[in-house]
Amino acid sequence: MTVAIAHPNIALIKYWGKQPGPGNLPATPSLSVTLEGMRTTTSVEPWGVDTLVLNGTESADPKISQFLALLRQQFDIPPLKIDTSNDFPTGAGLASSASGFAALMTAINAQCELGLSACAISGWARQGSASAARSVFGGFVSLGAPNWEAKQEFDASHWPLNVLVAVTSDVRKHTSSTQGMTISANTSPYFNAWTETAADDFQSAKDAIRHKDFESLAKVAEHSSMKMHALMLSSQPALIYWNAGSLEALAKISELQSDGLDVFATMDAGPQVKAVCTESAAPAVSEALNALPNILRVVHTRLGPGATTVAV
Ligand code: PMV
Repeated sequence: MTVAIAHPNIALIKYWGKQPGPGNLPATPSLSVTLEGMRTTTSVEPWGVDTLVLNGTESADPKISQFLALLRQQFDIPPLKIDTSNDFPTGAGLASSASGFAALMTAINAQCELGLSACAISGWARQGSASAARSVFGGFVSLGAPNWEAKQEFDASHWPLNVLVAVTSDVRKHTSSTQGMTISANTSPYFNAWTETAADDFQSAKDAIRHKDFESLAKVAEHSSMKMHALMLSSQPALIYWNAGSLEALAKISELQSDGLDVFATMDAGPQVKAVCTESAAPAVSEALNALPNILRVVHTRLGPGATTVAV
């Protein structure tokens, strides 16, 4: 048996939409931070038939079956029991598929002795979920043109940012990211504007991170997140991932910014709000978010490492 762990990542520059053709390539470049404080733990072992246990319950997940079928076109992989669990809500906009496929591919690579490099593991993980390519690496990670391979830009120690995840719901999202992206690409009148402006946002964010320029990073990251949600809202049917708690948290973060705190907000395909801040701002941000009536809890995390196997 092999056990691997991986951490979710939060994109500061988002991707939303896929390139046409095979490979599950994103339509826009993205830049993320890998989060130390949340983890997926996945074990794999040879078994009579493929079996998936998700958070303690035997489950069927077509995304995982399709992923195994794809891998088996290239590698000799026996039927496997995959036992995977998250210490945070699954399928609720907290990047569980990112850490899930990163942990799964890391575990399969070791268990089946495939001998793949981290870059190749990431390439395969991307086929399961494009954001998973980024969770194979720690710190600040990019996924962009020309080769669409995830790459660590800076390690976690480069800039000790903190992330406070304001959890506003534990319920699974109504529309998966993959479905949502297809709907947006087919129906939002803003889709071309989104893809046309993404490369500049990506470059600005990379420069801001290199120079540890919080104000510039906050500006471009909030803009990227809001543009993605504008795209979702302008899709038909509209994709509304926010709830009352999301709005409360966004308003509070904006108030904290006016008070001079180094903090910004980012949201994915779910109602959770992630407040990214400097180490010194974290206690005040945490206290403010915890005091809001519609926030279930606040998870405080720092930046962390990539996916690894662990001894059993
Ligand atoms: O690759 P997926 O299916 O996990 O989609 C990720 C989409 C966002 O989280 C909204 C943006 C991103 O770049 O992570």
